[in-house]
Amino acid sequence: MGSYSDLNTPERILLGPGPSMVPPQVLRAMAHPVMGHLDPQFLTVMNEVQDLLRYVFQTKNPLTLPISGTGSAAMEACIANFIEPGDRILIGVNGYFGERLCDMASRYGAVVQRLDKPWGEAFDPQEIEDALRKQPAKILALVHAETSTGALTPVDGMAEIAHKHGALLLVDCVTSLGGIPLKIDEWDIDIAYSCSQKCLSCPPGLGPLTVGARAREALHKRKTKVPNFYLDLSMIERYWGEEHAYHHTAPISMNFALREALRLVQDEGLENRYKRHQQNANSLWKGLEDIGLKMFVPLQHRLPTLTVVTIPEGVDEADVRKRLLNEYNIEIASGFGMLKGKVWRIGLMGYSSRQENIDLLVSALARILAK
Ligand SMILES: Cc1ncc(COP(=O)(O)O)c(C=O)c1O
Repeated sequence: MGSYSDLNTPERILLGPGPSMVPPQVLRAMAHPVMGHLDPQFLTVMNEVQDLLRYVFQTKNPLTLPISGTGSAAMEACIANFIEPGDRILIGVNGYFGERLCDMASRYGAVVQRLDKPWGEAFDPQEIEDALRKQPAKILALVHAETSTGALTPVDGMAEIAHKHGALLLVDCVTSLGGIPLKIDEWDIDIAYSCSQKCLSCPPGLGPLTVGARAREALHKRKTKVPNFYLDLSMIERYWGEEHAYHHTAPISMNFALREALRLVQDEGLENRYKRHQQNANSLWKGLEDIGLKMFVPLQHRLPTLTVVTIPEGVDEADVRKRLLNEYNIEIASGFGMLKGKVWRIGLMGYSSRQENIDLLVSALARILAK
């Protein structure tokens, strides 16, 4: 066995698709002494986390809580609880995370109907309506912000279509919650899930989700037991509710961190936060265009929280990322799936979304590309 010194890792400028940078207040909250998960003081923290999550989701849904696990755990909770074998689910697939939803749904026995679109494009209400008319489904699932492509599918108005055809609307808002407008109650979204480490600027480890009345009723009417013990929402809601019935041990320090991260969102105000993300994205796009780079997604569907940039001809994309990291301490990400080697992905989320970071990145890229 080796002998090791104290952990000594650098503080990076995180401009990838997540995790984003974590504000010092959140790191300090994480360092608070650990307490028991049924300690009355921790129960208060749980209630506050739920209250603050309702604020960022813009909902009054009682069933709003963070799943212990990352965004994928929250995604899987939504599939495991609302799909029974043989149920039909219509999934909009315009990037990697739509694919992942198909994979998860099929593992739980769903009949998966894919609605495919080229990567980088967004869905419009008419094509969703046409697909549901052709073949109704129990659930319509859409990825609000597709992190693999940088495209935004507007979900305002999609619930009306889903409900008209007897479907529940499930929305992946992993790269949108807290960074771009998302109004669960006003838009009548039935089920939504997200993560802690992107626009909320908390470390990875919790997956906030919210479930509306229609979906909750469907959950309570299931004929079969939820096949995943850890993600069974009927048990998790009793753990997070008045009863605090033991189901698992909530990650204490992560919940301290999330409470602080959400408090900071509330402190800034959602509208101000959306505006900051949009303004900084505009500034990044202009900076990148000024040095000759092209954005992959047309302006009308472009995500402010994650920008996908086309790699210029003849540039070694991995070498550029390596130099950004080693010489400038900046992380950006490569493309994956069918965009591997073709794009970079640049995140401006939460605490990372700052003009000083944009200036650093654009000038570093300009220097590296000039060589
Ligand atoms: C749109 C989307 N959905 C789901 C996930 C999965 O989240 P996690 O990596 O936190 O498990 C991600 C992660 O980047 C994502 O971008």
